[in-house]
Amino acid sequence: MKRRTFMIRVASVAGAIAATNVLAFGQKHGAHNKMGNMNHDSMMGKGSHDMTQMISPSYQLGNRTLTAQDIQVMQNASKDLLPASAIPQGIDLPLLPILKNESTEPKLFKATLTAKPVNIELIKGKPTDFWAYNNSIPGPTIEVYEGDTVEITLDNQLSQPTTIHWHGILVPADQDGNPQDEVKPGQKRTYKFTIPEGTAGTYWYHPHGHNTVAEQAYRGLAGTFIVKSKTDPYEKFAQQNWLFSDLKLQANGKIAENTFNDWMNGREGQFLLMNGVFKPILNITEPTRIRIWNACSAKFLNLTLADTKIYIIATDGGFLENPQELQKLLLTPGERAELLIIPTSTSTVALKSLAYDRGKMGMVPPDPDMTLATVNLQKNASATLPKNIRQLPIYAKPSIKRLIEYTEVMNHSQLLFLVNGKMHDMNRNDVTVKAGEVEEWVIFNNSHMDHNFHIHGTQFLVIEHNYNNQKSKPEINGFKDTVNLRPYEKVTIRFIQNEKGLRMYHCHIFEHETLGMMGQIKIQ
Ligand code: C2O
Ligand code: CU
Ligand code: CU
Repeated sequence: MKRRTFMIRVASVAGAIAATNVLAFGQKHGAHNKMGNMNHDSMMGKGSHDMTQMISPSYQLGNRTLTAQDIQVMQNASKDLLPASAIPQGIDLPLLPILKNESTEPKLFKATLTAKPVNIELIKGKPTDFWAYNNSIPGPTIEVYEGDTVEITLDNQLSQPTTIHWHGILVPADQDGNPQDEVKPGQKRTYKFTIPEGTAGTYWYHPHGHNTVAEQAYRGLAGTFIVKSKTDPYEKFAQQNWLFSDLKLQANGKIAENTFNDWMNGREGQFLLMNGVFKPILNITEPTRIRIWNACSAKFLNLTLADTKIYIIATDGGFLENPQELQKLLLTPGERAELLIIPTSTSTVALKSLAYDRGKMGMVPPDPDMTLATVNLQKNASATLPKNIRQLPIYAKPSIKRLIEYTEVMNHSQLLFLVNGKMHDMNRNDVTVKAGEVEEWVIFNNSHMDHNFHIHGTQFLVIEHNYNNQKSKPEINGFKDTVNLRPYEKVTIRFIQNEKGLRMYHCHIFEHETLGMMGQIKIQ
């Protein structure tokens, strides 16, 4: 085992602490049947928990046509899950490993990311096979300054094609790991791009191949990418990085395949990990700036922390104009935020993700409140916060307005997740726009469950939410590349695509994206 596996390995050697049943995904908590206006009552079979029993070979699951064997795999995947008590918890939050810069030239970051299977003994005697970047779960953190040039070679030692997508970073389209640009097993390719000035922020990277993203992500392929500012207004504060990911293991220690429910609702594991470990302990002993990533396949984080004052200082695309106080942070898959957390008492509190009803289908238990970590707080001198950090642009209303509509089709023979009535097709451009021009898109979630919207190649501003016939401005005004949509919500966004080429937009619940809930935009 290489040194970089320590994130998870540390957990396996630390003493296990008494388990609680906070992570009770597998248990029945009573009926919870959300159906909206779709015609799938008969599919749901009142009281049925395993939808796999209701489908048969040639069932159309998004862009997949299921075989008897696929259905068998799905059925087995819901059996014999490892109890949450089986994995060690309560160790100190580890730091994320840093990817070493191999270049000696100034302003150039050069390194290799090798994607390859790695075997980690998380549970004694039951090793888990992950797919990892540089043997590390999570993948190593890339840290550069805005203006730097990045040259990263992907060495694909997986058994299937892959790409690396630089989520949120403004890189040229042909360097952004599109599904059209796959790197075959045993091959290498170098991604090269220069980080634009003024885009300091909290980003990440993950695979974006054709029809393989969900699996490659849940087997462990994802890492963080920090773009630092040369004139960082928050530099004087202590810093921490919190990466949330989730893991679903079977009793034998192997990563579970996706069940039908996972494909339908998005996969959630029984272990929500923070920097690769389960329910760690951490300390906040002074006002601290915290970068947070939701790298889960589908888990919605609804974060709270008692006995603190919390300010959000940055969203997906970097700093807000001013710090803004908040009580609770909803972070859907793919989203990031930077917080400034100031302890207001000396105490020990739980970092929690509060229950959030995202309208899952089928007889799925409601999400419980979850404890993600134990936090030791120390009250300290109050902080003076910087002001007027930046000025966000004001995009005038453009003449062209486009509608992007999410829908679902579900019946006895198919379950489809569609964008403007279609599944993703690598050979089709759904929208053509002009580089450098302001676009206004209204995203309409015409379905009964939450889906979020992510677009490559740009950062947008949210102009308006329209939910339950109520229009409102966003609570936080900042650059975003991913935004959540509640059932039947419309969100209006404006953005500029500056570079020519092909870009994707999709729901960032990895299962939905992988099943084809994705469109393509051509910029010319
Ligand atoms: Cu984070 Cu198209 O992805
Ligand atoms: Cu992306
Ligand atoms: Cu979705």
